Amino acid sequence: MLFGAPGSGKGTTGKMLTKLTGWPHLATGDLLREQITRKTSLGLEMQSILAAGQLAPDDLVSRMVWDRLGWPDCEAGFLLDGFPRTIPQAEGLAQWFSGRNFRPVLIHLWVEYNEILRRLTGRRTCPTCGAIYHLESTPSKVPGVCDTDGAELTVRADDREEVVLQRLQTYQTQTWPVAETLRKNGILVEAIDCGEMDPESVADRIRWRLDRIGGSIAKKSKPE
Ligand code: AP5
Ligand code: MG
Repeated sequence: MLFGAPGSGKGTTGKMLTKLTGWPHLATGDLLREQITRKTSLGLEMQSILAAGQLAPDDLVSRMVWDRLGWPDCEAGFLLDGFPRTIPQAEGLAQWFSGRNFRPVLIHLWVEYNEILRRLTGRRTCPTCGAIYHLESTPSKVPGVCDTDGAELTVRADDREEVVLQRLQTYQTQTWPVAETLRKNGILVEAIDCGEMDPESVADRIRWRLDRIGGSIAKKSKPE
């Protein structure tokens, strides 16, 4: 589970780790934004919630996750990004893990406030492939254009300053206590102070930590 404040690097690191491990990267924010882009009834319902920096309802997000975790590509491991982010979601996930053959680890990405603001205000994303850039730290080769597919890069609707402040507040009040809830449920919590590390170093550090606790994340194939 990749856990941390908005802009802490969950998406960037998740994309790198998925290449290292072969595990699918399941980001609830991406799943919700996909519904909004496709203008499904769920997407239309969620649009104003995300644009306001509020959280989507627990039962809805949890159902989406339980459904996705049932796919065969999750059998050998998976990376959750942005879930759980409330106590009910955390309790539901702890229950989901119990009796299943996984060794869950929560990776808490720590980044200080000013760096979070710098990252979110400079973020650009590709609406086609989901690639994440930053105007200063990881710019695209041609300004405003995705390196992979040439699409025009966009600013996320919830990266406007007033929404960012609301998202940070939501994180502080509703999401921050989740790490402790999981720890109390016997789930390993590993914190990484990564505000001054580049994305490759963050992914390497996570890989090293997971190897050290005995869960080698060398590319795994599905169980026979
Ligand atoms: P979500 O999409 O999960 O947003 P978030 O948690 O606010 O996190 P972000 O995606 O903004 O940041 P990130 O940590 O992924 O950072 P990134 O890698 O992009 O959720 C959006 C919304 O959906 C929520 O507000 C809520 O409404 C809803 N939602 C989602 N999940 C939900 C749930 N479980 N329950 C209820 N509602 C839910 O990096 C940010 C920038 O920094 C980029 O520009 C990147 O290039 C740069 N960067 C990254 N790493 C580094 C580094 N090491 N050094 C320098 N720059 C870096
Ligand atoms: Mg993200």
